[in-house]
Amino acid sequence: MAFLSQTPKQLPPPEQLPQHIGFIMDGNGRWAKKRGLPRKFGHREGAKTFKKIVRYCRNLGIRYISFYAFSTENWKRPEDEVNAIMKLFDQYIDDVRGFFDEETRMVFLGDKSKFTDSLQKKMYALEADTAHYDQMTLMIAANYGGRDEIAHAARALAEQVKAGTLNPEDITEDSVSANLYTAGIPDVDLLIRPSGELRLSNYLIWQTAYAEFYFTDVLWPDFDEKQLDCALIDFASRNRRFGGV
Ligand code: IPE
Ligand code: IPE
Ligand code: MG
Repeated sequence: MAFLSQTPKQLPPPEQLPQHIGFIMDGNGRWAKKRGLPRKFGHREGAKTFKKIVRYCRNLGIRYISFYAFSTENWKRPEDEVNAIMKLFDQYIDDVRGFFDEETRMVFLGDKSKFTDSLQKKMYALEADTAHYDQMTLMIAANYGGRDEIAHAARALAEQVKAGTLNPEDITEDSVSANLYTAGIPDVDLLIRPSGELRLSNYLIWQTAYAEFYFTDVLWPDFDEKQLDCALIDFASRNRRFGGV
């Protein structure tokens, strides 16, 4: 009776699943190139994978998922590629409103000020409209850089010191965390990067301090539920010591 459950038997029990999964959505360009298509087709296909994986995580009961969609360094890319990605963001924000039914809170990580006014407005509106949902928090990192985020937090703390509301000796790991874009969100437990690259590329560098890493050669547009199952099974077998014994 294989159809009784959509979840393969070997998946770990819920208590062994990560609370926060971070995805670096990489390999879109190579996926398109392999097919002789312009890179933007890869981004379009990658956006479909994003939706598929969000739904699957929702079904699995994962509480926090974050996706690296556009880095502070990605502005270096050709203008037409950047424009195509911005257009996709715009379309996707309209599209993900469908997730409302699924009680998903949406948060954008990164510096929104570089986006057009209309895109910024849509981002803020989506965050505000979903702020009360608590089943799952879905984060999209757009114009996000881990170093930029830490510098941003340092400025915010410095302002509080300047205003006399914070003593320098009270700056702790917790107060730094509370001033990151991910304020209030637990650290990454499992970080998944497809496409064969073995690096963070400036993604959640503070929040992945004790994350488990899972790398695969599969390109993001080809990433699917089965790949995620493999990562989850692998994650459950890791011995997380956090510096202890
Ligand atoms: C990731 O795919 C998406 C973004 C960075 C926006 P890439 O566009 O980096 O794809 P590759 O790495 O060139 O294949
Ligand atoms: C990281 O991928 C950024 C995103 C996936 C959004 P990149 O393709 O930009 O990373 P590098 O350049 O290979 O390190
Ligand atoms: Mg890449």
